[in-house]
Amino acid sequence: MTAAGRGIDRRGLVRAGAGVAGAAVVAPAVAACGGEEVSAPSGSPGDVLVATGEVPVGGGVILDDQGVVVTQPTAGEFKAFSSTCTHRSCQVTRVEEGSIVCLCHNSLFSVADGSVQEGPADEPLPAVAVDVAGDDVVLA
Ligand code: FES
Repeated sequence: MTAAGRGIDRRGLVRAGAGVAGAAVVAPAVAACGGEEVSAPSGSPGDVLVATGEVPVGGGVILDDQGVVVTQPTAGEFKAFSSTCTHRSCQVTRVEEGSIVCLCHNSLFSVADGSVQEGPADEPLPAVAVDVAGDDVVLA
């Protein structure tokens, strides 16, 4: 979907992007158990990110302090990704219609796997390992 399709003009996108451009969080990369790299947010394994009930099915919640987007692509399935856009490191801005949106230059990423749905970004959002503990999504 294009910016015009969401009723946002390009000038509005640029203004919105300027507001978040300085808020980038640099997260170190660590090796996951599967050998792939994931972006480690601030925090430790077991730290609560968000209550499961606060994450909409098919959508997600952006946690600015932790630098993470927690999503629930299907009921009971929770994923998390770095909230730092892979294009030019803006913080993603919102989650809507199955996409994680970066308004700096209007890249869209899938809530299911962080893959790019629409550029200019050409790299997926790095996955962050999470578990569900009771009623909470926690860092793995
Ligand atoms: S920094 Fe996200 S689209 Fe450019």
